[in-house]
Amino acid sequence: MASNYLIKYGIIGVGMMGREHLINLHHLRTEGVAVVAIADPHIPSQKLALALAHSCNWPLKVFTGHKELLDSGVCDVVVVSSPNMTHYEILMDIINHPKPHHVLVEKPLCTTVAHCKEVVDSARKRQDILVQVGLEYRYMPPVAKLIEIVKSKTLGQIKMVAIREHRFPFLVKVNNWNRFNVNTGGTLVEKCCHFFDLMRLFAGANPVRVMASGAIDVNHKDEIYDGKVPDIIDNAYVIIEFDNGSRGMLDLCMFAEGSKNEQEISVVGDIGKGEAFVPESIVRFGTRVAGRAGLQTLKAEDDRIKYDGLHHGSSYLEHLNFLHAIRAKGEQPPAVDLQDGLISVAIGVAAQLSIEKGRFVSIEEVMH
Ligand SMILES: NC(=O)c1ccc[n+]([C@@H]2O[C@H](COP(=O)([O-])OP(=O)(O)OC[C@H]3O[C@@H](n4cnc5c(N)ncnc54)[C@H](O)[C@@H]3O)[C@@H](O)[C@H]2O)c1
Repeated sequence: MASNYLIKYGIIGVGMMGREHLINLHHLRTEGVAVVAIADPHIPSQKLALALAHSCNWPLKVFTGHKELLDSGVCDVVVVSSPNMTHYEILMDIINHPKPHHVLVEKPLCTTVAHCKEVVDSARKRQDILVQVGLEYRYMPPVAKLIEIVKSKTLGQIKMVAIREHRFPFLVKVNNWNRFNVNTGGTLVEKCCHFFDLMRLFAGANPVRVMASGAIDVNHKDEIYDGKVPDIIDNAYVIIEFDNGSRGMLDLCMFAEGSKNEQEISVVGDIGKGEAFVPESIVRFGTRVAGRAGLQTLKAEDDRIKYDGLHHGSSYLEHLNFLHAIRAKGEQPPAVDLQDGLISVAIGVAAQLSIEKGRFVSIEEVMH
């Protein structure tokens, strides 16, 4: 339903994900949104975004930098979908800008805990700005269904959360920014912040300490950029202990194209067990008492999704949720807030450090 006033969006960084946001927003146009501006220094990305906007009948203002976009004053909301290492500076400029802009920032919030903390502290002083972090896996229908099952206490008190991501290697990005830890924060920050966020949700707790083992064993070994070989790990096991005694485990492999599912999630409580499979979109759950015979299997769907896109409809629902928060003028806070963004990065940073040091790393250690 188009409700009252038009909400005008700007997208900062219109590479793969920025353009994906543009298409998602186009599918939300009946909700009263329009993309009116983009900022990106890379001409090919600008051109691709312009062509997309043209096909949506959206005239765009095009800027090379985020500051010009903010100063133009044409946007109410900005989506930050530039490379990870640019998030900090861009977020600080948005937060310190005289004109309020609500922000949807792609994960990871920033590449370091110190930068995340600075953003969290600065944003706290801007009550007129809503910030949502793009930890969108929560919205994938099978994941959302499993969250609902866990919240209903059908499985009892959650003790173990295991997430397996077995997938293809990192894609090629503009100027190959994702090939180096210094730009991404490291694989366990860059992509696994999604899964650490989910583990917190399932466990209903905060992390205490992290132990990880990982390496760069197969991918990118024959690539060289400006004389340097990529340093991003392509497989790891990570164990996380939570403050309520529950445990999480991540099994990441990025040379596993031969998998049926990209993500397999298993959540076990003292009463039962639940599983979610992406992209099969299957959820299975059962109790210890009912055993295998009582197992239920369902196909998870969400008929609000008008565009599946690259992430099984989760980007669409993420935008829908953020739009509702914006229209509610702060009475309904964004579902994924800055604290979620910070802690998901802190777990990733602790896991990267654990690999480097070969020992457990406490969350306290990386938070100070
Ligand atoms: N939610 C998800 O699952 C998901 C998936 C993919 C990427 N991402 C995130 O989205 C972000 C972008 O990733 P991508 O895959 O689109 O990368 P990309 O390389 O395809 O696009 C990045 C774009 O940002 C532009 N850019 C670089 N510096 C900029 C700056 N200072 N200001 C404005 N634009 C700038 C580049 O020119 C490029 O066009 C990253 O933070 C990434 O982690 C999230």
